[in-house]
Amino acid sequence: FKWIMQGLVAKELGDDRIIFKLPVFCTQTVTSCEYDAIMCPDCFKPTKNKQSVFTRMAVIKALEKTSDGRFLKLYPCPPVQPSSSCSLQDIQCLHTSVFVAGRYNKFCRSLPQTPWVIDGERRMESSVEELIAAPILSAFRANGFNFSSSGREDVDVRTLGNGRPFAMEILNPHKSRFNRAEMKQLQETINKSSDKIRVRDLQVVSREAMSRMKEGEEEKTKSYTALIWTQKPIRSEDITFIDDIKELTLDQKTPLRVLHRRALAVRQRVIHSMNTRFLDPHHFYLGLKTQAGTYIKEFVHGDFGRTNPNLCQLLKTDTDILELDVESVDVDWPPAIPE
Ligand SMILES: *[C@@H]1O[C@H](CO)[C@@H](O)[C@H](O)[C@H]1NC(C)=O
Ligand SMILES: *[C@@H]1O[C@H](CO)[C@@H](O)[C@H](O)[C@H]1NC(C)=O
Repeated sequence: FKWIMQGLVAKELGDDRIIFKLPVFCTQTVTSCEYDAIMCPDCFKPTKNKQSVFTRMAVIKALEKTSDGRFLKLYPCPPVQPSSSCSLQDIQCLHTSVFVAGRYNKFCRSLPQTPWVIDGERRMESSVEELIAAPILSAFRANGFNFSSSGREDVDVRTLGNGRPFAMEILNPHKSRFNRAEMKQLQETINKSSDKIRVRDLQVVSREAMSRMKEGEEEKTKSYTALIWTQKPIRSEDITFIDDIKELTLDQKTPLRVLHRRALAVRQRVIHSMNTRFLDPHHFYLGLKTQAGTYIKEFVHGDFGRTNPNLCQLLKTDTDILELDVESVDVDWPPAIPE
């Protein structure tokens, strides 16, 4: 059914990316699965989110653990003739995923990148991912999406400049072809839907191209501007030495603020260069060009000595970070789209 219908429907619609899903309920299947369970009882343990214990991976594991002799005893060759026919539960007609990429700016200091849920309770009313996805889902008339980006910023950090590359898998789109003008229109709809975010370079990409975003992510550089507070009063000439520091290697223990979800480790990250702009005796702007993955906040306040060296040590006074902006994410994907 699948092979016959899929081709006919695809031809009729002029779109070969239509796929059918046929969950088939078969008495025959259940019987063989019972034998599988006898074969390797340990292989079929119930897990949280799986409907059936007979997953593809579990069956493969069971087959690997079973000797040929034992297998032949349970499954005679030729197989026993089925006594009842298969019954079809359901047919689903789906479109393969379409992938969309672009870059986003975030102008708001109270917007998380993804929905922020603590103990089942929603913390902020929106998120970057939802603001971008809503107009896209409605244009593609899709069932859902999967969002990924080149790194992420904290809820209170803005992303300026050319923005942060992102990609979205659009699940089961009912409209899948968009020309350049339509994509531009969609981009404008997203831009106008909220003053918290903007997108550029919005385009349809291939599934393969998406992996380019994650490639060599660690080696990429990122630029930031931080507003710094100093405990001791400073003069403009007290901070200029920072401009001469190049390729500063930091040892960063996993920050206390993320320790609940990341393993404890010491990571080395490099600050390629810094520049300062004096503001007043307790404040200055610090520009940083760093290796991706550097914890900027921890470099500034030191995280109780867990980041070494840190700005407190360099300036010999307590320092803290009041505001942080991402100025650029130097990943050359997706390709820029000329306006
Ligand atoms: C979302 O992407 C992840 C990683 O690529 C994948 O494992 C997951 O199945 C995707 N989710 C959906 C709903 O397609
Ligand atoms: C959307 O906003 C971005 C960032 O400001 C801008 O570069 C782009 O031209 C805008 N696109 C449209 C179609 O409004």
